[in-house]
Amino acid sequence: MAKRRVGILISGRGSNMAALIEAARAPDYPAEIVLVVSNVPDAAGLAFAALRGVPTVVVNHKNFANRETFADALDAKLRAAKVEIVCLAGFMRLLATPFVERWRGRMINIHPSLLPAFKGLNTHARALDAGAKTHGCTVHYVEPELDSGPVILQAEVPVLPGDDEATLAARVLKEEHRLYPAALRLVAEGRDKS
Ligand code: GAR
Repeated sequence: MAKRRVGILISGRGSNMAALIEAARAPDYPAEIVLVVSNVPDAAGLAFAALRGVPTVVVNHKNFANRETFADALDAKLRAAKVEIVCLAGFMRLLATPFVERWRGRMINIHPSLLPAFKGLNTHARALDAGAKTHGCTVHYVEPELDSGPVILQAEVPVLPGDDEATLAARVLKEEHRLYPAALRLVAEGRDKS
C-alpha cells in the first residue's frame, strides 16, 4: 500500500518531529514525512530534518496580518507538498478555525498531559502543583477548541517523590517519542478507533 504523505508543523526543538522522521525510515512504516514547516525561523528541529533529507520551509507568523492569512500560507505549503496527514509536534501557535476544519480528521497533535487534564501550557508544573499521582501524554485529533478532539493514544507515567518540572518532563518526553510514531501508524493505516 502507498505510504501516506505527512507534513509536520514545529516551533522549536523538534524532538517529537525527529521521532516521527526516524520511525518513518522503517520500510514497513505506513507514512512518509514529506515536509517540515516551522513558524520560527531558527527552530532547532529544522536542522535535524534537513540532515535527514526532509524538505523544510519556514512560514513566519510575524509576516502575516492575522491568524487566517498565516494559516492560508501554511495550507498552501501543505497542499503543494500533497500532504495527506498533518502532525503538530510542539507547534505553539493557535490555528485559525477554517484551517482546523479543513484538516479535521487528518490533523493530529501531541500534548504533554493525560487529556482532558491540564490543557494548555506548563502542564508538568501544574500536574506537580495539583499533587497528581500520574501524568503522561496524549495524541489526539485537532479540533477548533484547544487540546480537545478525539484521543488516539495515551501513555501514563508515575509522578515520583522528589520530582521537579525537569525530571517529570523528561519522563513524559520519553513516552511522547514512543507514542507519537505509534499513533501516526494507526492513523495512517486507518486503524484508530477514535
Ligand atoms: C512536547 O513536550 C510537546 O508535547 C509539547 O511541546 C513539546 C515540544 O517538544 N507540546 C505542547 O505543549 C503543545 N501544546 P519537541 O519540540 O522537542 O517535540
